[in-house]
Amino acid sequence: MSFIDEINQVNALIVGASQGIGLGFVKKLLSDERISKIYATYRQAESAGELITLADNNSERLMCLSVDITEEAQIAEAIKKISHQVNKLHLVVNCVGLLHEGNLQPEKSLRQINPENLLRYFQVNSIGAVLLAKHLLPLLKHKERSVFASISAKVGSIGDNQLGGWYGYRASKAALNMFMRTTAIEYARSSPKTLVVTLHPGTTDTRLSLPFQGNVPAEKLFSVERSVSQLLDVIEQLKDGDSGQFFSWDGSRLPW
Ligand SMILES: NC(=O)c1ccc[n+]([C@@H]2O[C@H](COP(=O)([O-])OP(=O)(O)OC[C@H]3O[C@@H](n4cnc5c(N)ncnc54)[C@H](OP(=O)(O)O)[C@@H]3O)[C@@H](O)[C@H]2O)c1
Repeated sequence: MSFIDEINQVNALIVGASQGIGLGFVKKLLSDERISKIYATYRQAESAGELITLADNNSERLMCLSVDITEEAQIAEAIKKISHQVNKLHLVVNCVGLLHEGNLQPEKSLRQINPENLLRYFQVNSIGAVLLAKHLLPLLKHKERSVFASISAKVGSIGDNQLGGWYGYRASKAALNMFMRTTAIEYARSSPKTLVVTLHPGTTDTRLSLPFQGNVPAEKLFSVERSVSQLLDVIEQLKDGDSGQFFSWDGSRLPW
């Protein structure tokens, strides 16, 4: 039995739900009768059409909020709106991530290092998550189990880095892992029933991986539905003592 089965009214928040893995989580949770309320954030309406339609068609269970994760005031405002409706969250999954946008492309070599791009990677992939941790504490801190999971990436593992390249993305995911490990230590004191973890989804067929799918064997490219099911299984199997860890999609622990 997972923590979700043990709680009467489960409230969830998916951050970065406009597309890809985040939108997949929203769909999965909507089809799961154990989940009462789902809050889902998007940054811009242009790429969130499917999510907004889902919310229009499921208005009692799904509510959308607009959040650019690089803007602390927007994070605070969205969490304030959620806390007007519910006083507890049980599951938060931060699915925000950036690998490429416009001229920002993962670096193949030191020649391509650009400080502005590096800052952008850190703002979106690392700092956003720790701002969420700062503002979510009052909603995660209660007597029932709660989980705060952030989608990281195996390429953010320092110990596992054999190939090099992708400086900004790798370093920003390593920083995400450190922010969440440090949050886990503080939450263990301030919110002992909350488990804080980072998760590697495996290569998943989304906008983010699309330009890099060429060398990925078909059996190693997961559909969004498969990734989300696997990650939810890992989340549901978390136990006391798992907080502060970095898990892969199959539940194995990844090296820092
Ligand atoms: N796909 C893979 O193979 C893979 C592998 C390893 C790890 N991951 C990680 O998995 C997570 C989900 O990625 P995905 O594959 O689902 O990619 P995706 O389809 O590109 O989705 C990324 C999400 O992040 C949102 N986002 C980007 N910048 C944001 C910002 N400043 N504020 C708020 N939201 C922002 C996007 O919103 P917009 O629609 O507004 O851009 C979108 O909802 C990421 O953390 C990624 O690093 C993915």
